[in-house]
Amino acid sequence: MSLIDQIDSTKLPEHIAIIMDGNGRWAKKRGMLRNLGHKSGAKTVKQVVEACAEINVKYLTLYAFSTENWNRPKIEVELLMKLLISSLKKELETLQKNNIKLTTIGNLELLPKTVYNELTDVIEKTKNNTRLTLSLALSYGSREELIKTIKEISLKVKNNLISPENIDKSVINNHLYTRDLPDVDLLIRTSGEQRISNFLLWQIAYAELYFTEVLWPDFTKENLFEAILNYQNRERRFGKTSEQIN
Ligand code: FPP
Repeated sequence: MSLIDQIDSTKLPEHIAIIMDGNGRWAKKRGMLRNLGHKSGAKTVKQVVEACAEINVKYLTLYAFSTENWNRPKIEVELLMKLLISSLKKELETLQKNNIKLTTIGNLELLPKTVYNELTDVIEKTKNNTRLTLSLALSYGSREELIKTIKEISLKVKNNLISPENIDKSVINNHLYTRDLPDVDLLIRTSGEQRISNFLLWQIAYAELYFTEVLWPDFTKENLFEAILNYQNRERRFGKTSEQIN
């Protein structure tokens, strides 16, 4: 039986988040410039988005550019921004055809105006799509997101709009970039690194973590299905006992 046929459609992760890692190493292994690794990585993005839509995953969040990535060489940052613009232009039609909504998380104000404009255009055009929500984490850092949240809530407390004793999980959730997304169920990181790198620290509290040696440009639909099958074989207890769950 093929991998896709083994997936239990009643036990799908509602929200998958991916740390797409290994573009640089993929290129280096082939004696190519890092940029060609990112280009190839963009092709993988398309495959994975298609696969999620195919099996009815509702939310997919991709770590495309972190707050720390601004410290990369200027030329690499520029090329990544160009790649983002060209991918958005190229894929708008596919997003529409497949009923996919594009959103973003992160500090978009730091992005070049050209990227910002292209993004807001695609976000606006796809806002009523319902099959899959694709969120791109851009200029995103989880600690910065939490600082922003704390500042916004503090200001509301100061202005008597909220009292400290009413601050609970939902108040925090409602101030995060991810306010419209459910918690992450499955977090995947490619390329063999086993760390979270400042990604969705609050939102992955109960996520299942899946690490694979495969470099992002080599990651296929089948690799995604393997990760989902692995997820489906785990027991998610959310702090309860196995007996309580079953
Ligand atoms: C990590 O690999 C990847 C990135 C920092 C950028 C991710 C970008 C893409 C996959 C392409 C464009 C994205 C979209 C949404 C169209 P790395 O460069 O850190 O690899 P390394 O660890 O091997 O050096």
